[in-house]
Amino acid sequence: MGKSTIACNRAAISAAQGLRTLLIDLDQQGNSTRYLLGAPVGAQQPTVASFFDQTLGFSFNPAPPADFVLRTPFEQLDLMAASDRLDELQVKLESRHKIYKLREALQQLASDYDRIYIDTPPALNFYTRSALIAARSCLIPFDCDDFSRKALYTLLENVQEIQADHNPELEVEGIVVNQFQPRANLPQRVVGELIEEGLPVLQPYLPSSIKIRESHEQAKPMIYLDPGHKLTQALVALHDGLKGAKKA
Ligand SMILES: Nc1ncnc2c1ncn2[C@@H]1O[C@H](COP(=O)(O)OP(=O)(O)OP(=O)(O)O)[C@@H](O)[C@H]1O
Ligand SMILES: [Mg+2]
Repeated sequence: MGKSTIACNRAAISAAQGLRTLLIDLDQQGNSTRYLLGAPVGAQQPTVASFFDQTLGFSFNPAPPADFVLRTPFEQLDLMAASDRLDELQVKLESRHKIYKLREALQQLASDYDRIYIDTPPALNFYTRSALIAARSCLIPFDCDDFSRKALYTLLENVQEIQADHNPELEVEGIVVNQFQPRANLPQRVVGELIEEGLPVLQPYLPSSIKIRESHEQAKPMIYLDPGHKLTQALVALHDGLKGAKKA
């Protein structure tokens, strides 16, 4: 789909443009964490799981959310890392109604950062819902196949429900067409249909490129790996068209 790739690359572009930027990785797979750190998180280092852990206990002096943030090798770019404990924590967090804790954390972090991006897991679970409740806006990647189209409608329904029940300010920033192949007929047709339905399809479409694999392997977002590359330029154009969104 491209969630982690787009979240990390937007965060890297924002930081490279001089803004204090934070990425929060809510996916147990930790793809964004590996992409931005280049190495696994040490056993002693704080993660987003340690932040959620703290919400389950009682403390007179809870650590502020900033204490769970790590520096990355990139200037102005910080990370709240994922953890392989996120899945087991989920049941407890859910049963103890901790769905607003991420929102509260972002409110506390807002003065430290100009931009906060959140990468979500590939399911509409507790963490994805926490992110949608916390965010000002959300971006939806779309990779042109039929499966992705069904997922898109389901997600839009869920966003509407969260808007209605929890977060009236939540905006859909738009749909990012990823891995677009201009010479194939199907993607052209499917994207055309989305536009006809009035869905907010963003420009430019992101091309498919094998360079992204190198970017992941070297743990260097595209703006640092190859600023002149066509995919980098598309990412920057997309990002610059979306400025103003503080949390995504
Ligand atoms: N524009 C692109 N061109 C080529 N490959 C891409 C592109 N965007 C993403 N990919 C590849 O597609 C795969 C999935 O991308 P990514 O991890 O960003 O998606 P995701 O939505 O975060 O996935 P998950 O749901 O597993 O978290 C990765 O292997 C990535 O390298
Ligand atoms: Mg991902």
